[in-house]
Amino acid sequence: MPEAETTGSIASSKDYQTQTPAHNEPFFLKGSNELDWGMKNRLASIFRPESGRTVMLAFDHGYFQGPTTGLERIDLNIVPLVPYANAIMLTRGILRACIPPSYRGGVVVRASGGPSILRELSDEELAISIDDAVRLNVSALAVQVFIGAEFETRTVHNLTKLIDLGNRHGIATLAVTAVGKDMNRDARYIGLATRICAELGASIVKTYYVPGFDKVTAGCPVPIVMAGGTKLPEIDALTLAHNAVEEGACGVDMGRNIFQSDCPVAMIQAVGKVVHENYNPEDALEVYHDLKAEIDGAE
Ligand code: R5P
Repeated sequence: MPEAETTGSIASSKDYQTQTPAHNEPFFLKGSNELDWGMKNRLASIFRPESGRTVMLAFDHGYFQGPTTGLERIDLNIVPLVPYANAIMLTRGILRACIPPSYRGGVVVRASGGPSILRELSDEELAISIDDAVRLNVSALAVQVFIGAEFETRTVHNLTKLIDLGNRHGIATLAVTAVGKDMNRDARYIGLATRICAELGASIVKTYYVPGFDKVTAGCPVPIVMAGGTKLPEIDALTLAHNAVEEGACGVDMGRNIFQSDCPVAMIQAVGKVVHENYNPEDALEVYHDLKAEIDGAE
């Protein structure tokens, strides 16, 4: 127990720097200033405060499509990429089974599920309890929202239930806009879907890049991260990421364009150059080729 301070000369030597106002800086992330400390702290584990952006590595595909190409052995193929990601997006099964608990980045856990690729994909329900999410120390929970699809209303309710549960515990909610079968992937549709998610309280929205993306991000009051989509040539994937951040995305949440690349470790670092350092796609591609040559040479 510390000794009590004596009154008199010692106590009066304290320096309260009364001329210096207390720090009162706004939180770095769009639309997030009014959140509580715990939620902000979790968001800061997903988004890098220096750039306000994230490179999130998505490998949750197995929750509805089983062992996707590139994800057959997460321990061998994905774990080596994790140090280069700001956050990882995955299922709780893979988190417990494959990711070392010493991992320090953001953890975004898939919280919806139900149908496999053999059924109607929008027929999802919530698939994790908030207790387990707390036990796993997750930064955010991710839920699929199918605007325009058969079970649209249920997936919107999945989102709002998850937001209520997450808010109680300071856990952020990532809404993933799935594209309904009959909906066009254009700025009008993506603008509709992302805005609905934000209006209903999502902390982050994940969506696809479309022409007119600057209007989509402007119309969404919380951070948008760009979804990767099917595998493209490296230069095209880097161009997508570049265009998305130029047009207001707070980073990317990419899966196949990283782990199905010829050199995933090089690709995730090249994406990082685009996202955090504003590299243009050609310069980032050079980074990719240089790293790939180094890695190939060492083998
Ligand atoms: C969407 O269903 C899931 O969140 C996927 O894991 C994610 O969108 C896929 O990432 P990518 O399309 O970049 O492979």
